[in-house]
Amino acid sequence: MNIALIGYGYWGPNVAKNIFANKKLRLHTICDLKQARLDKAHNLYVEQSKYETDYRKLLSNPEIHAVAVAVETSAHFQVVKDALNAGKHVYVEKPFTSTVLEAEELTALAASKGLIIHVDHIMMYHPCIQKIRDLIVADELGDLLYIEAMRMNLGQIKKDVSAMADLAVHDLSIIDYLSDGKEPFYIKAVGEKKYNPKESLTFLMLRYRDFIAHIQSSWISPLKERKLIVAGTKKMVVFDDMKPSTEKLTIYDKGVDVLAGSDVEYEDYAVKMRVGDIWIPYIPEQDALFNSINHFAACIESGKPSDSGPEQAIRVLKILEQADQTMNA
Ligand SMILES: NC(=O)c1ccc[n+]([C@@H]2O[C@H](COP(=O)([O-])OP(=O)(O)OC[C@H]3O[C@@H](n4cnc5c(N)ncnc54)[C@H](O)[C@@H]3O)[C@@H](O)[C@H]2O)c1
Repeated sequence: MNIALIGYGYWGPNVAKNIFANKKLRLHTICDLKQARLDKAHNLYVEQSKYETDYRKLLSNPEIHAVAVAVETSAHFQVVKDALNAGKHVYVEKPFTSTVLEAEELTALAASKGLIIHVDHIMMYHPCIQKIRDLIVADELGDLLYIEAMRMNLGQIKKDVSAMADLAVHDLSIIDYLSDGKEPFYIKAVGEKKYNPKESLTFLMLRYRDFIAHIQSSWISPLKERKLIVAGTKKMVVFDDMKPSTEKLTIYDKGVDVLAGSDVEYEDYAVKMRVGDIWIPYIPEQDALFNSINHFAACIESGKPSDSGPEQAIRVLKILEQADQTMNA
């Protein structure tokens, strides 16, 4: 299956590498507006791919079955729309679009043409996140209490999106995946527009029916953190994406046992902290981006919708859009 990549900036090379590594796909053309970026691509892929500065030209090529879109978020809508109108299946980087309205228009367009849209909610394809989901499904964690996510670094500040749209989108897609698409009924964000027209630091609070969540997103942190705590009544899990691949996930048999009573307001209510084993499960080393692209290829082959298709992406975008409306209100 021939695929073209549109956008070879910071992230595009990673997408190219993983398309190239996939036996189902052939990296037919690499496109970027900037010739200097294409020269870099050419150094790697030489004549194995074609190179193009105008994406509209490659869209008219019937040899190309699908496109991967890794341009700036604000440009996703137009490029994806043109690709769908040209009859191409679409892999698009997160966040899907800048607004829910744009996402809904693209979703309807893809449906009318029988085309696949796969949004790269990459963390759903991470083996550690998949392991956490397995633990939840097997009731190893008990009832979910809270999810705490931290995604921070110094930079890279983007002008067309806030840190929340750029970073919290990962955590929102994780929560959506872990909770089978549950939607929050309370959303509140605070943020700071520092060094940027959009927020470069945000704290997002969410209340779901059964649990609460807190997501920190920052481009102005002295530390690089990629951390997720999923706390259940039976066990708690910490995913630290900055650790080596074999040590990223830690399961804590820690929690609070209720010794007596059932109502916290009454005096006979008593609890005891439970501190048990801590272990690091074996997780086979896999590249999440490879898995995401592979899932896209499998969806095209089978005609089945992507697990991170537009339906899920719209749920995530709706939260981001509502959060934006509550920002500092
Ligand atoms: N999945 C992840 O973990 C992850 C990580 C980083 C970035 N991203 C996403 O990848 C996308 C790109 O981000 P980036 O940091 O690489 O941005 P970037 O600005 O570094 O690169 C974008 C590239 O797209 C090119 N471009 C823009 N419009 C174009 C057009 N019409 N035709 C051809 N080329 C065009 C630009 O010249 C540039 O080289 C964003 O949606 C971002 O959110 C995803």
